[in-house]
Amino acid sequence: MKIFVTGSSGFIGFHLSKKLLDNGHSIHGFDSMNNYYDIKLKNARYRILKKYEKFFFTKGKLENHKKLSNAILRFKPKVIIHLAAQAGVRYSIKKPKVYLDSNITGTHNIIELAKKVNVKHLLIASSSSVYGANSKLPFKEVDKTETQLSIYAATKKSTESIAHSYSSLWKIPITMLRLFTVYGPWGRPDMALFKFTKGIINKKKIDIYNHGKMYRDFTYIDDVVDAITMLINKAPSLKQLGKIKDDSLTYAAPFRTINIGNTKKVYLLEFIKILEKELGLKAFKNFMPIQKGDVKATLSSTTLLKKLTGYNSRTNFKTGIKNFLKWYLSYYKKRKNFY
Ligand SMILES: NC(=O)c1ccc[n+]([C@@H]2O[C@H](COP(=O)([O-])OP(=O)(O)OC[C@H]3O[C@@H](n4cnc5c(N)ncnc54)[C@H](O)[C@@H]3O)[C@@H](O)[C@H]2O)c1
Repeated sequence: MKIFVTGSSGFIGFHLSKKLLDNGHSIHGFDSMNNYYDIKLKNARYRILKKYEKFFFTKGKLENHKKLSNAILRFKPKVIIHLAAQAGVRYSIKKPKVYLDSNITGTHNIIELAKKVNVKHLLIASSSSVYGANSKLPFKEVDKTETQLSIYAATKKSTESIAHSYSSLWKIPITMLRLFTVYGPWGRPDMALFKFTKGIINKKKIDIYNHGKMYRDFTYIDDVVDAITMLINKAPSLKQLGKIKDDSLTYAAPFRTINIGNTKKVYLLEFIKILEKELGLKAFKNFMPIQKGDVKATLSSTTLLKKLTGYNSRTNFKTGIKNFLKWYLSYYKKRKNFY
């Protein structure tokens, strides 16, 4: 199948593209290769994908409608998986405009083009952060999502609304993927796992927000990739209404939101303990108040995902951390700029 993947040089886009290429699909990647974090890491991911005969690539911004349109209209994908976005809660407080441009204008361009090429399925990355200040856990797709706490989360929620209206107007099958803290090899340097690992190795103090009283539902990258891969052939359809208990489907649109998570709580201090043990080093902790925009807890319900795909996340947190550290140590050793 021809699949267009945006954000293909990013953490999740890279792993997903690689798996789809390994499964024999043709992939057209699209990425601006921006310098929000270490560009060498994005280039290294890209170089791996480029070796595949069926991998095509356009470097460009989502906001550049002409460039995006040329790439999509020429490739004529059956499926678009839209992962490119300005990610990161904290940076969104400093640079909100970048989020409005990349995430809202960029996603709008993608949806317009998906309509133009009449895709069978458009899958768009949303985020667990849309649940915002909700205090009822685990988070379910049908819960109200009206209390986003950061601009990042607000842009993700906006894309869900825009996507729903397009899906309703033009009957475009759209799935919004609400991803819960994804981690693993080739991960993002702006995320806690990367920062803590670097800090512990360098014997630097690591900042621990809300005095450690927080937890996250950490989802291992291979599990996320498996879940997305299984969802490709599960395009929502209005005909399904009533056949499968899927309260996230509305009468108006072939559209659903779906949680992708591990359904387990990992407390921040437990997370650091595991890292210390695996690295054989002690962390120097700097306890801090909660950061602006942060949520205290996330936990997914994945009942709908299981019902649709039979998905069960396979990777427990300790194994996932071990895999991450193995990659991290070997990647930075090879580049001689150790840590
Ligand atoms: N990693 C997580 O824990 C997590 C959790 C929830 C949601 N998500 C969402 O999943 C998606 C992928 O996240 P990731 O962790 O791989 O992030 P990432 O930053 O590693 O990947 C995003 C990629 O998109 C590209 N990009 C950013 N803005 C662009 C633009 N305007 N035009 C073209 N390319 C652009 C970047 O260069 C980058 O390579 C994002 O939509 C993110 O919001 C991620």
